[in-house]
Amino acid sequence: MSVTDVSILFSYTRSYFQVDLEAVSDAVVYLKTLLPHKTEGELFTVLGRAKQGKTDRFRNLLQHQEKYNEQFIHAPGEKGLVMIVFTLPTHDIVIKIIRDKFAPPKSVSRNDVMARYKQVFEHDRAGRLADAQEFQYLKFDRNHFEASLLEELTSEAREAILIESDNIIFKHCYIERRLTPLNLFLQTADQTAAKKAVYDYGQAIRDLALSNIFPGDLLLKNFGVSVRGRVIFYDYDELCMVTDCNFRDLPSASTEEEELHPDAWFYVAENDIFPEQFISFLGFNEELCQLFMHWHKEILTAAYWRNLQARHRLGEVLDVVPYHHYPF
Ligand SMILES: Nc1ncnc2c1ncn2[C@@H]1O[C@H](COP(=O)(O)OP(=O)(O)OP(=O)(O)O)[C@@H](O)[C@H]1O
Ligand SMILES: [Mg+2]
Repeated sequence: MSVTDVSILFSYTRSYFQVDLEAVSDAVVYLKTLLPHKTEGELFTVLGRAKQGKTDRFRNLLQHQEKYNEQFIHAPGEKGLVMIVFTLPTHDIVIKIIRDKFAPPKSVSRNDVMARYKQVFEHDRAGRLADAQEFQYLKFDRNHFEASLLEELTSEAREAILIESDNIIFKHCYIERRLTPLNLFLQTADQTAAKKAVYDYGQAIRDLALSNIFPGDLLLKNFGVSVRGRVIFYDYDELCMVTDCNFRDLPSASTEEEELHPDAWFYVAENDIFPEQFISFLGFNEELCQLFMHWHKEILTAAYWRNLQARHRLGEVLDVVPYHHYPF
């Protein structure tokens, strides 16, 4: 067993261990000898002591900010339509605030978004969903925010914040571990790292499917790469159960008129999903696209998803293996 193997098991991407220990702190001290890079807060959290974990995380955040005198900045990557996401330049967490309004094509409400984050908190995270810890009434000095970020927060997330003299108070937010967004990762990764990430991206989708989760939005910007090279999903506002989706084969056009129609010429219901179309909006370069098709073509068929649906409906408990070997 390597540090990486053990680390993946006691990770923020898995559900908390539900073990009734007499003294959790002893277990934390022991695990810390195996995993010295993990903070105590993280270890308390994975052992099910979420409040202790949150207290520790917030304290670390304030201490880091004081020590390095850093300002909060927008998290690198594409802006979200639902969340304002920010970070400290050298700290390993991001903070997410729900916007007051979501631009089209988003049709979800604030309550829907919160319900989905709660669903993730309660569901088996299968090593592929980042733990989003929910915080209320977090207070920061407003001088600790970079100007454009402060401007965006005060104009587009008014429902979620309070301004009190020199402080900004977040009435509600999520804190997650910071990952490298997969779209950014692929821009700079060498060939081997890129191949591994693309392989693991497909494996992440499969692991989630095995735990009855369909991510909803498969764009690369919604997945991140961990320091150990694992691909993790973090954008939950469109997440749903595999068994609640309707996976359909793409109908083939029978007339030229249908063929040339710019939009779908057939009826599409809200929960209809066409796996054959996934690949067209992922934006892999040609080489990575071919590799993805070679390893994971199955994911792009409705049959793969319908088969899993049937097994979930029969109550089968599908195994998700925490360690994977790359086929190259
Ligand atoms: N845990 C994280 N680590 C690093 N960056 C993150 C993390 N979570 C979010 N981000 C960055 O913030 C962006 C927006 O986050 P997220 O996708 O959660 O918001 P959203 O509003 O739901 O997005 P969308 O418009 O795709 O629905 C991401 O594309 C990514 O660049
Ligand atoms: Mg997103």
